Amino acid sequence: MSKVKVPYIAPSEITPEFVGQSRRRWLQQAGFGVAAALASDAFGLRDAMSATLPPSLPNSTYQLDEKLTSEKDITTYNNFYEFGTDKSDPSRYAGAMQTEPWTVSIEGEVEHPGVYDMDSLLKLASMEERVYRLRCVEAWSMVIPWQGYSLAILLKKVGPTSKAKYVEFVTVEQPKNMRGISAHILDWPYVEALRIDEAMHPLTLLTFGLYGKSLPNQNGAPVRVVVPWKYGFKSGKSIVKIRLTEQQPVTSWVKIAPSEYGFYGNVNPQVPHPRWSQATERRIGAGVFAPRAETLMFNGYADQVATLYTGMDLKRNF
Ligand code: MTE
Repeated sequence: MSKVKVPYIAPSEITPEFVGQSRRRWLQQAGFGVAAALASDAFGLRDAMSATLPPSLPNSTYQLDEKLTSEKDITTYNNFYEFGTDKSDPSRYAGAMQTEPWTVSIEGEVEHPGVYDMDSLLKLASMEERVYRLRCVEAWSMVIPWQGYSLAILLKKVGPTSKAKYVEFVTVEQPKNMRGISAHILDWPYVEALRIDEAMHPLTLLTFGLYGKSLPNQNGAPVRVVVPWKYGFKSGKSIVKIRLTEQQPVTSWVKIAPSEYGFYGNVNPQVPHPRWSQATERRIGAGVFAPRAETLMFNGYADQVATLYTGMDLKRNF
């Protein structure tokens, strides 16, 4: 049995914090009507960004009956090596990243390549999913209310050609604003990739926000991917380019440490990292004395994604 269940979601949890005008537009598009839009303004939504997030709706496929990780933990315990290798570096230093204006270029094996600004990216999907995700990241995990829509919506729009076998994500490189780049820990920019069927899977999310707010810089503003059945390193932050390719891209971690990080990065408790077991995980926020939780195959999403890997040796393809 998968861990994905359908809990009750309080309407207050669904209320995002955005610019009233644009929120109204989204609510109308999402079928809520003017009355609901005006009522939502009465909650005192604060201006958060010029391009707004669509409201996200409960979606039974994506719910977890797990306690959410606190917003503070989600936004202060991060990996974003462009800002340093300490978990606290991204929240301390990512404020320097310039996120406006921002464009994402779609290139390579697509019928309709193009450059999207944030507003046009956000408008691509009219009915958004409410997403609760359990994420195992290396040896720890969090449950994060991400907001966004399935990457498949964008990919279908640009039309992969018959040669498109992989989707590569190139993230931003701002040497002046990213103090970790001079450390040469990785070959910048940070690059990640998925097989096209993984990228088209509805659980692969183009992500714009969390906890009803636009993404903080340290979590990958203004747009990132989230692939919830994979280890965190597969989810590139602050994406500027999405390239569809025929050949398997060489991703940043595979390039620097191929024996430790594979192309797939699927959460798999049976396959240890060369330097540590991956059978259990520490829940961030559970307290130092809380027992470690057992890590689930594909992070609990086996029912949804296991068929992507039928017949594959997952020890070799780690
Ligand atoms: N994206 C970029 N551009 N740079 C990074 O260093 N780190 C990855 C991934 N995406 C990383 C990145 C790793 S190792 C993890 S665990 C997750 O982001 C962490 O995401 P979070 O801080 O939002 O939890």
